[in-house]
Amino acid sequence: MIRIPTLPSAEQSFFYRNGRLTVDGVALDDLVERFGSPLYVYSGASIRTAYAAITQSLRGLPLQVCYAVKANSNLHILKLLSSLGAGCDLVSYGEWRRAELAKVPQGRRVLSGVAKTAKELEALFKHKFAGVYSIHVESAMEFELIILMANALKREVRVAFRYNPDVDARTLDKISTGRKKDKFGLTREEILDLAITYGDDDFVRIEGLSIHIGSQITNLKPYDHAFERLADLKTELESHLGRALSYVDLGGGIGVRYRDEHPISLARYASLVKKHFRKVPRILIEPGRSLLASAGALVSEVVYSKERGANRTVILDAGMNDLVRPALYDAYHEIAPLKQDGSKPVKWDVVGGICESTDYFAKSRMLALEGLPGERVAILSSGAYGFSMSSTYNSRPRVAEVLVDRGKVKLIRKRETFQDLVKHENF
Ligand code: LLP
Repeated sequence: MIRIPTLPSAEQSFFYRNGRLTVDGVALDDLVERFGSPLYVYSGASIRTAYAAITQSLRGLPLQVCYAVKANSNLHILKLLSSLGAGCDLVSYGEWRRAELAKVPQGRRVLSGVAKTAKELEALFKHKFAGVYSIHVESAMEFELIILMANALKREVRVAFRYNPDVDARTLDKISTGRKKDKFGLTREEILDLAITYGDDDFVRIEGLSIHIGSQITNLKPYDHAFERLADLKTELESHLGRALSYVDLGGGIGVRYRDEHPISLARYASLVKKHFRKVPRILIEPGRSLLASAGALVSEVVYSKERGANRTVILDAGMNDLVRPALYDAYHEIAPLKQDGSKPVKWDVVGGICESTDYFAKSRMLALEGLPGERVAILSSGAYGFSMSSTYNSRPRVAEVLVDRGKVKLIRKRETFQDLVKHENF
């Protein structure tokens, strides 16, 4: 019996039908026959359900979801989420260009990022309000540059300060972002100093405050803590400015179940938001993982297997270049064979073909696999930070992506070719 993780209250999109693993009823085996292996496969239904779960939990609030594009930046995914009403959280000029292509309305975009360059800001300043609803400022130097640029170019922009509330999100160290030692955002003192020094500029309007304390958060306490500090700072900042701010952005971070985690209750998350921000005119949140993770799987084929005594290793045609989370964070991803044929589970190390010992997907995992070439598996919960973090390391072209939505199968990104790998090399 294979447990398949689900989002809180989301429908399960990957399930077995007649012994074949399907995505919303479409056999993954058939998708591999059609599009090749390895292959990223996404369920539109899962994305829609996850989006509805979040927005319904927070209904009644002046909410705008700004999907964190970095989780999965495929244009079709952006278009789908935008059609549901989502905006986007962008962290680079490249992501901004994607939002343009996907026609995500400008009023629903925010721009974060610790290293917005002068060149990127200049390109954005050609557009009204820099092509976004607001820019989230992460350092004093960045703020000063924005003021200089906006005044020189006579362009109005809205900004929010990204606040680092010094709260431990109690998640993996490598994906924590809201502690003092993390590089993100500004301290309370820095924000108040900037507000006192620059107050209201003719062109740069301070409209809000934002936070993002980390990712894969499965405990409500850090949110409560961070929201409380944010609400306090908001009151103080408003008294310095002599006016109310028009929004707060609470960031992303809502965790999902990869193995046996207990995701937070969205209803209780909503109660916290209401407790701290009842009178704020606009509330933004930036979920990434909670919308996409469970919606995607990386499907891969066995190339070889090896047995050394009691140790069995199965080698897949996917590698850490396709899905880096296990190698980078020791992250757990459920692995499900595409065929359920009643064979007995045995212990496997599941690895890729990259020349690195850290290139693995699972260690000592009980799987009903024989280790024969051509057998297929799905590495589940890979819809977020899967393809978007993939690379061409070892000169392996990036894999194709397929979206199954409302009964239709769509190739949303072609498999890269060798030509794609070398086309920028002057040879
Ligand atoms: N907003 C900001 C400013 C962020 O930096 C992030 C994620 C999000 C929102 C979305 O957070 P989410 O809802 O997805 O937790 N690569 C790591 C995750 C890094 C998250 C970076 N920032 C992983 O695979 O676990």
